[in-house]
Amino acid sequence: MTESTFPLEPIERASIDELRALQLQRLKATLHHAYANSPVYRAKFDAAGVHPDDLRTLEDLAKFPFTTKKDLRDHYPFGMFAVPREQCVRIHASSGTTGKPTVVGYTARDIDTWAGVVARSIRAAGARPGDMVHVSYGYGLFTGGLGAHYGAEKLGLTVVPFGGGQTERQVQLIQDFRPDIIMVTPSYMLAIADEVERQGIDPRTLSLRIGIFGAEPWTNDMRRAIEERMGIDAVDIYGLSEVIGPGVASECVETKDGPTIWEDHFYPEIINPDTGEPVADGEMGELVFTSLTKEALPIIRYRTRDLTRLLPGTARPMRRIEKITGRSDDMMIVRGVNVFPSQIEELILKRPELAPHYQCILTREGPLDNLRVAVETRPGVSPESIEARAAAKMLQHEIKVYVGSSVEIELRAEGGVERSQGKAKRVVDLRPK
Ligand code: DLL
Repeated sequence: MTESTFPLEPIERASIDELRALQLQRLKATLHHAYANSPVYRAKFDAAGVHPDDLRTLEDLAKFPFTTKKDLRDHYPFGMFAVPREQCVRIHASSGTTGKPTVVGYTARDIDTWAGVVARSIRAAGARPGDMVHVSYGYGLFTGGLGAHYGAEKLGLTVVPFGGGQTERQVQLIQDFRPDIIMVTPSYMLAIADEVERQGIDPRTLSLRIGIFGAEPWTNDMRRAIEERMGIDAVDIYGLSEVIGPGVASECVETKDGPTIWEDHFYPEIINPDTGEPVADGEMGELVFTSLTKEALPIIRYRTRDLTRLLPGTARPMRRIEKITGRSDDMMIVRGVNVFPSQIEELILKRPELAPHYQCILTREGPLDNLRVAVETRPGVSPESIEARAAAKMLQHEIKVYVGSSVEIELRAEGGVERSQGKAKRVVDLRPK
């Protein structure tokens, strides 16, 4: 039984022409739906002097106004919905660090659409009939847990809805239940792996075959480190609550070359973040999404703040995004140099004396910003040891050479960097506001 595989959906093999035709038809319907049923979208379109009938080609979408997190906050909680609240069967919200949460709603059909794209993502990750999925994404208002859950169930797999936290118990159940797949943030995967090793178990001997990791940026070096340590295939799942949740795009295990966008449901654009102008496929910029099938909260040209580029399809005809390693929100500007935590992560992973638990701490001394990288040494390596100090020096040097920034390295012993049970907090900004 475990040797059989799930068949692809016909749309996953459709030609680009068929796909573009479907997108155009769905995009027209979405714009009309938003205009007719959401007063907020109607006002935004009117103010921009555009009408849904102005869209004749996919390129015409560029005439329509963007939607931002601020729009959702300004119409908190349900003001942008395009169906009466009573028709929503589910509400999710993302907390955000400041201000009101962003609230999203789903009709029964939206939930089914969402489960469908997550099921497709899990299948693309290499799931087989009969597999068991351990879900460690948080359940609740966060879309990770329930999104993964409904997708795995829709695929007909056995789901263990653990959620985040209680790391020791997670490890116990993974040993007892023997799941094939784990869905978790990459940073929490590391915390689980640490606990497995603490219990004297080699993570490679666990039953896990596949890890489906997302909800936060992680580098290809982190992928290799996790795959090696856990003896699994690690694939990247991308998504955001405003667009639907996890499963907007997901990697195919046979290529592991960036998440394939499920373009029959989500239309991608890349724009220049400063001018808002669309850029060509292959060029870097800010990722923007328009939903093509959503009912409760159609989302038109949503600015994700995630930086990436569009790449041609490989395992599927649909386009891919390059693995997202930078969000504009996480970009640190240190004495004029742009620095992303992922650049630091890549360099940390090269040093066997250091553990992949790190935080970037920004402080200000007089007029100048300082960046301190707090990083743990590997278990068994003391931060005071000569080898650890040599590794810190090397790291500092490489950050200077490859990133262009002078930073301070602070070595901490095992457990010295706060562990996430969900999304890791990579940037701690201690500068006076
Ligand atoms: O994090 C949805 C999700 C849950 C995705 C589980 C994957 C797995 P939000 O809380 O709204 O939704 O946060 C969305 O997280 O704009 C990205 O900045 C970041 N993000 C999500 N997936 C990835 C990824 C969920 N694979 C925000 N790589 C997005 C990099 C990611 N960043």
